[in-house]
Amino acid sequence: MTTPSSQNKMRVRKAVFPAAGLGTRFLPATKALPKEMLPLVDKPIIQYGVEEALAAGCDQIIIITGRGKSAIEDHFDVSYELEKMLEERGKTDLLAKVRSISDMIHVAYVRQKEALGLGHAVLMAKELVGDEPFAVMLADDVIDAEKPCLKQMIEVFDETQSSVIATQVVEGPGISSYGVIDAAPVEGNFAGKLWDIRNMVEKPKFADAPSNKAIIGRYILTPAIFEELERTPKGSGGELQLTDGMNLLLQREKIYGYVFDGKRHDAGDKLGFLKATVEYALKREDLGGPFREWLKGLGV
Ligand code: UTP
Repeated sequence: MTTPSSQNKMRVRKAVFPAAGLGTRFLPATKALPKEMLPLVDKPIIQYGVEEALAAGCDQIIIITGRGKSAIEDHFDVSYELEKMLEERGKTDLLAKVRSISDMIHVAYVRQKEALGLGHAVLMAKELVGDEPFAVMLADDVIDAEKPCLKQMIEVFDETQSSVIATQVVEGPGISSYGVIDAAPVEGNFAGKLWDIRNMVEKPKFADAPSNKAIIGRYILTPAIFEELERTPKGSGGELQLTDGMNLLLQREKIYGYVFDGKRHDAGDKLGFLKATVEYALKREDLGGPFREWLKGLGV
């Protein structure tokens, strides 16, 4: 593993959140409500991701939106009427919660006019990202970890100065629902967790899966990905696939797969969303106790 001298080191400061998808798996809830605004207990799933990016040291958030997604912009904006009402009623706790969202950080928005695929959504961020490495975070993947998943990945990037993709081990036929890496282990500081990617295959048959390591919705990419996405042909479903772009990037740069510590919830899927809701509610100081009691009483 090469370690460039510290003065030339690139830092990850920007996190891109593609949020222009149609959210068909959650219809009819997502007909008028963006999937990213579905709440886990009382916080929209995208806010978990934004908080993770900030905790990882990113200071610029870029959200790729589309039609019908204005609720996301409103969420991260100041709500004067709501704040005034809470202030007048002396609801200081709630006021602090509401203010902390708009105070969190400056968020930039880019519009993806048509949902032409995740790769296309990432390409929309090209001008705002410029010539520096950046994170891509899918809000659906809510990751509960002691050290934020993106922070773990940035530590890998700081050492490797190469693109890093989050992966998790999926045993059995479930692997066919994911992009899967074909990779060799890397020795050194991250031994056992870091993999040198040779190829990535989108949703392989179980028998054809090159490994048990599935790609999860956290990526750190070098800006070279933009050139590759611009020349990536449309892939499955007629969409511009990020995986196809990353496979082209792999021909000119190293990409590492990193098996992160933590638990990932697929909140873009109904069952995954329900499980995440239960787990997050059980962890809450204000709700956990009574909720646990109620669950026990169900006797299921
Ligand atoms: P998904 O594959 O989860 O698609 O996209 P989706 O449209 O959001 O949801 P389903 O599968 O129809 O229920 C992965 C991520 O990429 C974004 C989505 O918003 C989601 O965060 N995306 C996808 C875009 O921003 N633009 C696209 O054209 C496609």
